[in-house]
Amino acid sequence: MTKEDILQALREVHHPARQDRDIVDLGMVKDIEISAEKVSITLAFPKRRDPLTEYLVGSARAALIRHLPSSVQTEVKAVVVEDDKPAKKKGLGLGLEQIAEVRHIIGIASGKGGVGKSTVAVNLACALARMGYRVGLADADVYGPSVPVMTGTEGAVPAAEPGEEEGRELILPLEKYGVKWMSIGYFAERGQALIWRGPMACNALKQMILQVKWGPLDYLLIDMPPGTGDIHISLVQDIPMEGAVIVTTPQTVALADVEKGVNMFRNENVNRPIFGLVENMAWFTPEAHPDEKYYIFGQDGGAQMARELGVDLLGRIPLVQGIRESGDLGEPVALGSRPDGVAFLELAGKLAEKLG
Ligand SMILES: Nc1ncnc2c1ncn2[C@@H]1O[C@H](COP(=O)(O)OP(=O)(O)OP(=O)(O)O)[C@@H](O)[C@H]1O
Ligand SMILES: [Mg+2]
Repeated sequence: MTKEDILQALREVHHPARQDRDIVDLGMVKDIEISAEKVSITLAFPKRRDPLTEYLVGSARAALIRHLPSSVQTEVKAVVVEDDKPAKKKGLGLGLEQIAEVRHIIGIASGKGGVGKSTVAVNLACALARMGYRVGLADADVYGPSVPVMTGTEGAVPAAEPGEEEGRELILPLEKYGVKWMSIGYFAERGQALIWRGPMACNALKQMILQVKWGPLDYLLIDMPPGTGDIHISLVQDIPMEGAVIVTTPQTVALADVEKGVNMFRNENVNRPIFGLVENMAWFTPEAHPDEKYYIFGQDGGAQMARELGVDLLGRIPLVQGIRESGDLGEPVALGSRPDGVAFLELAGKLAEKLG
């Protein structure tokens, strides 16, 4: 009888409250002692009392008895352990309760900064809300949050209420334009530089998502910070994002940048679908000549890029002064009926159609 045999036997014991995974897979088998006449195992339980402790101890013992010769004694002990890496393993010890009623969690990402990710995220959120969906947006850009300005909610202070877990408050999102907004910007003084070291940034932005009382939503969009570093990978791993929308501009000559964004989601540890590419600033339309289109950066850069990456081109957004101005004014164009606003409604329609 080897350790491996014992583990094999214990794999028959499933935890009904943890997606029915087995106790070996859940890492609960802490210790195995084998001697000629006795097998003794120790199961580890997390700090909070697991109501299924006795059930699992009993089931583990039964499994051992089934597989061992009757001459061998069996013993199953339970110990309570501190989670050794709570922040990493369980995202700050924050559970997924607050996003349990969200149907689609979608990351809005890019390989490069400044391509209009936040503009697209904010307008897409407004457009989906106009179509009647329940929408939330989490601004995960801990370094340069722009959602407060773009939605005219700067200076607002989100309320908090006691959560179910002791000592942990839930943050209430702000509601405006029919969308629930959350941003780290609401917790910083205006103009104050947000300087975070890697792990802190990581935790802060998980809090912006997991400690917020979103309630039932059809879409939760996550405006990802620029870049494709560790923070991103960790975010994509810890938040059950369904997939991503990648924003690019036609002058992103280097396909490599966009590829980096795409690969954040496609790498083997993450493996989430890319719902499509949004080509922002696809052409320029002067304010005074709304019917004119100037393809300053070439006409089908976005389409070509989408083809090369094997993803859909979900939408094309023109470069117009109004988009920038309305962003600065906190009144997203997608709320209006001008052509630039309509481009976002079309994009929202495409995405909603794609996600069924
Ligand atoms: N289609 C557009 N037409 C006009 N201005 C635009 C358009 N898209 C974005 N902008 C402007 O470009 C600037 C950068 O956009 P935005 O902040 O959305 O980019 P970002 O990718 O989120 O940047 P960051 O990487 O810093 O987060 C903003 O001033 C915004 O108003
Ligand atoms: Mg941004």
